[in-house]
Amino acid sequence: MGIFGVIGHPISHSMSPIMHNCEFKKLGCPHHYTAFDVHPDNLKNAIDGMRALNILGLNVTIPHKVAVMEWLDEIDEEARLIGAVNTIKNENGRLIGSNTDGEGYLRSLKELIDHPFHDKNVLIIGAGGASRAIVTALARYGVSRIDIANRTLQKAEQLAMHVRQFGKSNAIPLKEAEEKLSTYGIIVNTTSVGMSPNLPDMPINIHHLEKGTIVSDLIYNPLSTMFLKKAKEKGAITANGVGMFVHQGALSFEKWLGIAPNTERMTETVLKKLGG
Ligand code: ATR
Repeated sequence: MGIFGVIGHPISHSMSPIMHNCEFKKLGCPHHYTAFDVHPDNLKNAIDGMRALNILGLNVTIPHKVAVMEWLDEIDEEARLIGAVNTIKNENGRLIGSNTDGEGYLRSLKELIDHPFHDKNVLIIGAGGASRAIVTALARYGVSRIDIANRTLQKAEQLAMHVRQFGKSNAIPLKEAEEKLSTYGIIVNTTSVGMSPNLPDMPINIHHLEKGTIVSDLIYNPLSTMFLKKAKEKGAITANGVGMFVHQGALSFEKWLGIAPNTERMTETVLKKLGG
């Protein structure tokens, strides 16, 4: 039997254990996945513990995604570019860090749009950790342009500079994004604005949103934020954060075990847990 898990602080609301354990069971894998609440002061001890206890794989979540990198033996290219790790694989005592957040998001987007979207202009709202993973993946996939709008413009500027290694990118104020909303084919909210309990809040005004625009929100609590509800009313094609959550988990699973789990089944498990 192999032990897997997720480290974070706090961690009690994580849906990863139920999602992975259901999949282990369905696939007949004799493994177990558990949530470990690790205080930041104990991060190095936790990683030493992973080696000592031969824990085969860990997911890493807030607030450890950047700090954990210092204690690993190897960081793969994607995680280096994103500057954060969300997956650790224990290969005979050698701990390898990777990041499946960006690729997980890209896969969820490919499920939503059934044709290549290299020709689209993309607007990303927010410039935090989640945003960095997504813009890195989208820029490496290759889209026409990525504009990053953020409350703190300086953070958007730093991120846009990173994205310019791979393609066109600008930092813009939220107001400017609102005014030229109709020029984007894909709009992504990566901020926590609209997350429960702040249900009426919207990250931007969508007065100028065009019908047929792809609008996605990384939030899955609630399943449909006010931003998504209003966008849908205006004829947008919308998606919540469940897709990214499932796909980042599925990609971690695949890295650890070398087999692809059933993402439709994982989605059902997560939706059931969320009451959707
Ligand atoms: P995560 O790792 O989930 O991306 P984060 O790194 O803390 O979280 O980033 C949060 C993002 O949401 C930031 O872009 C933040 O904007 P600032 O850079 O100005 O702080 C944005 N954000 C959070 N709360 C917000 C609010 N009430 N209004 C606008 N933007 C908000």
